[in-house]
Amino acid sequence: MARTPSRRRFLESALGAASAAGLALPLKLAAAPLVADPDHRPTLERPERPLRLGIIGIGGRGSGLLRTFLQTRQVEVVALCDIDSEAIQRGRAIAQGMTPKVYEDYRELLADGAVEAVITATPVDLHHEMGIRTVRAGKHNYFEKPMGLSAREAEELYQAAAKADVVFQVGFQWVYNAAFRAAIEAVHEGLIGDVRFVHAQRHGAGDLPHKPWLMDRRRSGDIIVEQAVHEMNVFCWGLKGHPERAAGFGGINCLIDSPPGRSVMDHYALTMEFPNETRVCYSHMFYATAPLDGMHIYFFGTRGAVDVMKGEIYLKSAPPPAPRPMRLSGDDTFNAALDFIEKVRRRQPPEADALKGLLATKAAVLGRTALYKGKPVLWKHIA
Ligand SMILES: NC(=O)c1ccc[n+]([C@@H]2O[C@H](COP(=O)([O-])OP(=O)(O)OC[C@H]3O[C@@H](n4cnc5c(N)ncnc54)[C@H](O)[C@@H]3O)[C@@H](O)[C@H]2O)c1
Repeated sequence: MARTPSRRRFLESALGAASAAGLALPLKLAAAPLVADPDHRPTLERPERPLRLGIIGIGGRGSGLLRTFLQTRQVEVVALCDIDSEAIQRGRAIAQGMTPKVYEDYRELLADGAVEAVITATPVDLHHEMGIRTVRAGKHNYFEKPMGLSAREAEELYQAAAKADVVFQVGFQWVYNAAFRAAIEAVHEGLIGDVRFVHAQRHGAGDLPHKPWLMDRRRSGDIIVEQAVHEMNVFCWGLKGHPERAAGFGGINCLIDSPPGRSVMDHYALTMEFPNETRVCYSHMFYATAPLDGMHIYFFGTRGAVDVMKGEIYLKSAPPPAPRPMRLSGDDTFNAALDFIEKVRRRQPPEADALKGLLATKAAVLGRTALYKGKPVLWKHIA
């Protein structure tokens, strides 16, 4: 809470300057109830019986997740699976000091009775099948987003996870980010009044990695399903529901044939309508030029607004709310891993549960369908 005095000083000086100038109180009081200490990371005791973990897919994300899960000191890596021998070597090096079994066929890992929980971090076209088989095998699953390539795939995986007696957590680490949490909680508590509009963008000054599966929209689901599903989750989580319809335009108009054969969009601009005429305006592109690149998610309500990514609240007239207590460490994925392990121990649903995964994936599919058709599409019409 070291930021409180400076925030107060800022407000005092803003108010003082306004009254000295004979102005009415500023309409927007900048308030920043910053909620986390980014350097804070709980020190954890190694339990007598760590969670026995397997991993399927030890590429970019899988390697990072494996490291993070090991940093919690709560897991024992007992199985590695990848079709690429270099990935297996990477996994062995990360799990140094442990003796995991190695599998090329993920179904054999799922049949391994020593494995209690599985991290899945494979290309999106494998998600539906792997997710369903994992939960049906009775394994708890930390499952990288999205929940599939289509609404049907996401529904089927959701149903399978709901029926299985396992903990199923989707890789939405933003749900465990302290700033996001504070902002969304403020929205849910009504601090900014009724949310009427959301504005968000992800404008990259560089492209996604040119991995063949990622550049192929039949395998990745396209950038809106593979990547912007994170934002879709924030919209659905913050607005407690799902969009009813979407419309927009997008495609490839700059990174043409880069890389050769590219079929994923390089940009789009999308509008989505949630209940009560709440509208979301989102744009996503990869050829921005710094410093005009970057990301934001703003929720605008009748009484104020929040900057979700910064955890800042701005009110039109009332004094800013008191800073919220710190609850999370600075690393989203570390928090997410801890929640998963804790919820497996307690057999409780995690924060980033299958329902969040379902709604966000379907919202992304809705947006993609509207973009591909170039005309409005209703939620009830997506498949
Ligand atoms: N939560 C996040 O912020 C985040 C960030 C990046 C990626 N992701 C997600 O993680 C997943 C993986 O992305 P990535 O960037 O690590 O991709 P990647 O290509 O770097 O890694 C995928 C790995 O899966 C392996 N694989 C492919 N087919 C397999 C099979 N049949 N059995 C076992 N292993 C197989 C590949 O050999 C590779 O090692 C995707 O779903 C992606 O959307 C999430």
